Amino acid sequence: MSNMLIVETKVLASFQGARIVRLEIASSEISKKARPGQFILVMVSKEGERIPLTVVDRNEEMGTITLIVQEVGFTTRLLGRLKAGDSLYSIVGPLGHSTDIKNFGTVVLIGGGVGIAEIYPVAKALKEAGNRVISVIGSRTKDLLILEEELKAVSGGLYVLTDDGSYGRKGFTTDVLKDLLRGKDKPEKIDLIYAVGPIPMMKYVSEIVKGSGVRTLVSLNSLMVDGTGMCGGCRVIVGGQTKFTCVDGPEFDAGLIDWDALMKRSRVYARQEEHICKLRT
Ligand code: FAD
Ligand code: FES
Ligand code: MG
Repeated sequence: MSNMLIVETKVLASFQGARIVRLEIASSEISKKARPGQFILVMVSKEGERIPLTVVDRNEEMGTITLIVQEVGFTTRLLGRLKAGDSLYSIVGPLGHSTDIKNFGTVVLIGGGVGIAEIYPVAKALKEAGNRVISVIGSRTKDLLILEEELKAVSGGLYVLTDDGSYGRKGFTTDVLKDLLRGKDKPEKIDLIYAVGPIPMMKYVSEIVKGSGVRTLVSLNSLMVDGTGMCGGCRVIVGGQTKFTCVDGPEFDAGLIDWDALMKRSRVYARQEEHICKLRT
């Protein structure tokens, strides 16, 4: 099977034109090397940009990796339109530090939106390492919820939420986190919290855990260009120091991040991206 060939695609979720698509891609080297928490940089076409995507799963025997992509703009929509038999222009990876996997005890994983795909490989590996895994997953609405069964299979406890109450409990993942830390659902002890989702969700997680003494990691979706520490595009302020998400991350201690600076940076190219989308779609 030639590398970068798309072996299979499946639409996992679709709601009012917003889709989340799973792609199985042939990449024998990355399927051998990728570890939970790592990502790749993909170029869909020769003229296009590179975008970072988490390696959600890998099958070393088949020489394939799994990507789960939410269509949010031009490049992710282009990727979502590809079919089995098409090929990507390039893939680089695995990149970034992998998650530290060991037996911590009880770990609470929080996934918001497509962040659910990003916590899945970490949940699976933590479960295999003997941890008690509690997963909290949330989406805007029922039709955008992904990987519920997969996470149930690796979690001792699973909480499902939707913003609009169309499925599971109505509310936000952070409501459950508050209960787990302070309320009626409190487990004996939480040893680690791991959250991936929209920046406002991760920022709120960092506020909720303040003072709890529980180590809390987030995996950041910073803007990336080269992905190798050369351009500075993915810079983030952590504990007052400038770090690059691609080579120093993508995981950082939630309490040390300058969330407002990160939020500002994530919107830096918004006007240009909108312009490209209008021109090309
Ligand atoms: P655009 O219209 O260009 O941008 C939409 C928004 O996406 C922007 O406002 C910005 O916040 C973000 N974005 C745009 N360009 C980039 C870029 N070059 N690098 C990072 N973010 C960008 N998304 C998934 O759906 N699944 C994943 O598994 C996943 N994993 C990621 C892992 C990492 C380490 C990082 C940094 C990001 C990850 N993302 C993931 C986010 C994904 O890279 C962006 O959604 C994508 O780049 C958007 O491109 P676009 O052209 O479709 O949208
Ligand atoms: Fe260029 Fe990280 S993407 S330094
Ligand atoms: Mg783009």
